[in-house]
Amino acid sequence: MRKTKWIALLCLAAMTVCLLAGCGSAGDGRRIIRIGHNQSTSHPTHIGLTAFADYINSELGDKYKVEVFPSELLGSQTEMVQLTQTGAIDFVVASNAIMETFSKNYEIFNLPYLFSSAEAYHAAMDDPNVTDSIFLTTEQAGFIAVTWLDAGTRNFYTTDKPIYTPADLKGLKIRVQQSPTTVAMMELLGGSATPMSFGDVYTALQSNVINGAENNELALTDNGHGDVCKYYSYDMHQMVPDIVLANYEFMESLTDEERAIFEEGFKILNATQRAEWNIAVEAAKDKAQNVQGVEFIYPDTAPFQEAVMPLHESVLAGNPDLKPIYDLIQQYNAQYAAE
Ligand code: GCU
Repeated sequence: MRKTKWIALLCLAAMTVCLLAGCGSAGDGRRIIRIGHNQSTSHPTHIGLTAFADYINSELGDKYKVEVFPSELLGSQTEMVQLTQTGAIDFVVASNAIMETFSKNYEIFNLPYLFSSAEAYHAAMDDPNVTDSIFLTTEQAGFIAVTWLDAGTRNFYTTDKPIYTPADLKGLKIRVQQSPTTVAMMELLGGSATPMSFGDVYTALQSNVINGAENNELALTDNGHGDVCKYYSYDMHQMVPDIVLANYEFMESLTDEERAIFEEGFKILNATQRAEWNIAVEAAKDKAQNVQGVEFIYPDTAPFQEAVMPLHESVLAGNPDLKPIYDLIQQYNAQYAAE
């Protein structure tokens, strides 16, 4: 078992003992607010969450103490969403990809080529008319989404064989996120989808269990995937946002004044993470190319798009509630068309 898994198990065990003993407090009467995520401490998401923690601790530090747990210390993303549902922790950053198994409406943001450009993606995700009916209607499941975070564009990267066209994916085992929509996407592209959690990908690549994966550029450097995968192909198949989830009861327990401070904190988190994102991607590309020796490939994206477009129709047919949101996203796509 990997070292991080042992640490996660120990943390979970310690937390369970702690919760049973009623020690959700800092020992000085303050309530501890726990946030879990799966990125490193240099990742834009951790930097954003630290800014959030600092803000809440400075505004409400007499009552609350926010603690951020990076690197899957509290478990995989799916396990952390479950902990957030039950209130064992208060917040988690989860990829939208894994959310569709908790609430079907999240499928929409997992569709390949949903957004025409990064600008369209940002504008749509910033519009409550696009997100509210998905983010705020999961009280029954024990959580709500309080903001979203940029996770860039997802592209294929491989150990031995560069990807120029969908045909190049044939026969390759590619790690995908644990999302039925993404598995269906891979099937349409002709590759063999191998779903697994993020923390297991490095070892799977290294031991040739898989031939490649797909993610933004930071996975190459921050997670070391570029040490093993030497070809990164900009097919640009998905822009899957990360979602910040909060335990519903915790959010309901806040006074109006506290809630307003938390809402401001979510804005700080979102803005800080986004400002850090572009800087981090540029630095990752530089390191991947010049230190890890990764080759960046810019294939024609049209054949990839054509192969997966039937998925838009089938997802909308299976969940007609998504149609108005889909149409609204098309307006942003027209407004911010790709250059
Ligand atoms: C990105 C994303 C994570 C996600 C990961 C994955 O890093 O930001 O939330 O877990 O991709 O591929 O699983």
